[in-house]
Amino acid sequence: MEADFWHQRWHKKETGWHREDVHPLLIDFAKKYFPVNSTIFIPLCGKSLDMQWLVKAGYKIIGSELSEIAVKEFFDELKLSPKIVSIDNFKIYEAESYKIFVGDFFDLHAEHLSACNCWYDRAAVIALPEAMRIEYVTKINQLFKKGSKSLLISLSYLSENRQGPPFSLTPAEVEDLWKNSQSVKLLISAGSDLGRGKGSGQLPQFKPTDVEEHAFEIIL
Ligand SMILES: C[S@@+](CC[C@H](N)C(=O)[O-])C[C@H]1O[C@@H](n2cnc3c(N)ncnc32)[C@H](O)[C@@H]1O
Repeated sequence: MEADFWHQRWHKKETGWHREDVHPLLIDFAKKYFPVNSTIFIPLCGKSLDMQWLVKAGYKIIGSELSEIAVKEFFDELKLSPKIVSIDNFKIYEAESYKIFVGDFFDLHAEHLSACNCWYDRAAVIALPEAMRIEYVTKINQLFKKGSKSLLISLSYLSENRQGPPFSLTPAEVEDLWKNSQSVKLLISAGSDLGRGKGSGQLPQFKPTDVEEHAFEIIL
């Protein structure tokens, strides 16, 4: 998707993917997979409440988000006044345990994320069309050292009339994307509550069936 697609979505408040709660699979798995006190990278972070939950659980967050509207709303909702600095192609918003790079994820360099050795992907890789998904995996491999860990939540569904976003990614497709990693482990596949209006990304409107979410541990 082009940047303008996402800027328009935020501008028009068409952010159906945004959940008003913390993702239940994050709550189930975060503490098992993210080392205590680590700094977690959240690509394509939006204004996800998962970031607040992770900080309350003792982690630090580095996010990447194209939309400044999203990032302003995130800090406003927390009633925090972030320090804002410009570095390289980014504006960086920073307060307490949160640091968010406003700009294009694909412009990030490993030095920007030197504090992180793990990342959490919910609705990031599934937001991207196939060619960009491959670039996303290549970029993650450039940003992180071998052995770095991820918790990734993907989504699969059947639909006759919808390509995405969100794009459907079955467990086999996730395994194929990350096939050059040390390990890709499916932790759980669960019927999703998305069709019932939680962060649905307009799922109900295009009437998908067999909606499932899948949590993976990936070790690069
Ligand atoms: C489907 S939303 C998911 C947001 C968040 N992960 C969540 O669970 O609520 C995808 C987000 O990625 C952002 N985005 C899309 N392309 C991006 C890029 N190249 N760099 C940084 N952010 C991007 C969009 O603005 C949008 O907020």
